[in-house]
Amino acid sequence: MADETTETRSEAAPSETTRPPAASPDTALAREIARRRTFAIISHPDAGKTTLTEKLLLYSGAIELAGAVKRKAQQRHASSDWLEMEQARGISVTSSVLQFDHQGLCFNLLDTPGHQDFSEDTYRVLTAVDSAVMVLDAAKGVEPQTVKLFEVCRRQGLPVLTFVNKLDLAGREPLDLLDEIERVLGMPAVPLNWPLGMGSTFQGVYDLRADRVLRFERVARGERETPMEVSGIDDEKLARLLPERLLAELREEVELLAAAGQDFDPAAYREGRQTPVFFGSALNNFGVGPFLAGLAELAPPPQPRPSDHGPVTPAQSGFSGFVFKVQANMDRQHRDSMAFLRVVSGRFETGMSVDHPRLGRKLRLPRAHRIFARERESTEEAFAGDVVGLVNPGLFAIGDTVTAGVDVRFPPLPHFPPEHFARLRPVSVDKHKAFQKGLRQIEEEGAIQVFYEVAAARREPILGAVGELQFDVVQSRLEQEYGVATQVHRLPHRGALWVLAPAAAQAQVQWPMRGVMQAQDSEGRLVALTESEWAADFLREKNPELELATSL
Ligand code: G4P
Repeated sequence: MADETTETRSEAAPSETTRPPAASPDTALAREIARRRTFAIISHPDAGKTTLTEKLLLYSGAIELAGAVKRKAQQRHASSDWLEMEQARGISVTSSVLQFDHQGLCFNLLDTPGHQDFSEDTYRVLTAVDSAVMVLDAAKGVEPQTVKLFEVCRRQGLPVLTFVNKLDLAGREPLDLLDEIERVLGMPAVPLNWPLGMGSTFQGVYDLRADRVLRFERVARGERETPMEVSGIDDEKLARLLPERLLAELREEVELLAAAGQDFDPAAYREGRQTPVFFGSALNNFGVGPFLAGLAELAPPPQPRPSDHGPVTPAQSGFSGFVFKVQANMDRQHRDSMAFLRVVSGRFETGMSVDHPRLGRKLRLPRAHRIFARERESTEEAFAGDVVGLVNPGLFAIGDTVTAGVDVRFPPLPHFPPEHFARLRPVSVDKHKAFQKGLRQIEEEGAIQVFYEVAAARREPILGAVGELQFDVVQSRLEQEYGVATQVHRLPHRGALWVLAPAAAQAQVQWPMRGVMQAQDSEGRLVALTESEWAADFLREKNPELELATSL
């Protein structure tokens, strides 16, 4: 029964007129799911992700929410809450889920930390969305962090929509930017609108599909957008509107695009083979409307997810979801751990009884929350595509599957291989218990991995992380949340290789004399921490029969 509903799943929001008078529960469920759009924004820091988020909320009418995002942005500098790290470095470490309605659709925007040292966290967030938005600064184009995050989207096969921001400032030529996206990211970029001028001459955008000009006017009390229908770029109305030089440029560029550019292909976008591009200025709230309309039109609804029993489709019978993020102490008022669960299929209800396959037990789901910035609100129900926060008394770990009425397990979320290592010691031995507890909690959140040297006299944790900043975060959190001051001693190691063999075979391993430390991870598995590629190659060459893995 359920599979049929999903097969006929509508891509667009159902309109009032097509609604049957009394929908059956299944139809109502399918309708709720079909109107979900779950996405994340990726960008290099400072390209305008926070500003665009705020303006998307403004457009959707969630104005108070937009205020809260702003507060969050200001808190980066002002508040004494949460991680002092964030303020000290002006980075956003935490992330949240914003839900807003627009044009009958329900958008879930999953925030991602911007700093590259948190790319592992971002990676996991990207496993929980159905599409991504890439924000570029028009003056800077494709920046290093954009490349990294884009690669993650590509690996996931996520459709990516592009917003070129800061058109109110002098920037690079739009054609040059499109070319850069194609060259650097290897993804054909197809503009859906085109800027009229740039910087001080920025006049608006030309909708290439609808032959419509959206004029950007600077008026006494700010700016306003004035739509104007035109019959094409030769329309006389354009000549009256634009200075001669701008109009000549526009005509030339549109001709060039028609001759050399690719046509927009929605299927190619959905399959991650083409990125539609919108231009605008988030700060001036210009071009955000067309962009949001584009997102509503193009972004895919909740997608199926692979499992050990084949793909799980959103509207099939039974509830399922997976935990993609665990975060403790998000708020001083709620000093608990929160597990973020993406609903993959069906309906989530507070208090429902579920299976937890990893623990092999049934449990009643704790109260669920919608997470908005650092604020939370209880929620009674959620649908495939939504994300709920579950208060987590140690039951949920990253990658856990939760189900009801369907027997599936989703694949584990892979770790990024750690590249930085350091010994961690509490300054005072009295704090040993709190130190252990804090470290275990932070490891469960997946931000770092913990190793122990095999032959060491003392069992002292060695942290492994993707980015060095993670060490600062661990130290800062242990101090703030668990009252434990620590010292970090960097180690020269650069990689980890898990030795996947029975104990007898492990005893036969030929180790190089130098450049490798034999360690165990916190589950007791043997790991070689290597200082160089040479050491890793030695292990591989001298032990050809051994299976060595760079991450588990
Ligand atoms: P991020 O989340 O990607 O890191 O970027 P964020 O939105 O915080 O924007 C980074 C800076 O760029 C901010 O300025 C923001 O005001 C500015 N900005 C964003 N969009 C536009 C735009 O369309 N035009 C112009 N001119 N600037 C834009 P800031 O001075 O660093 O911070 P703030 O003091 O304004 O908060």
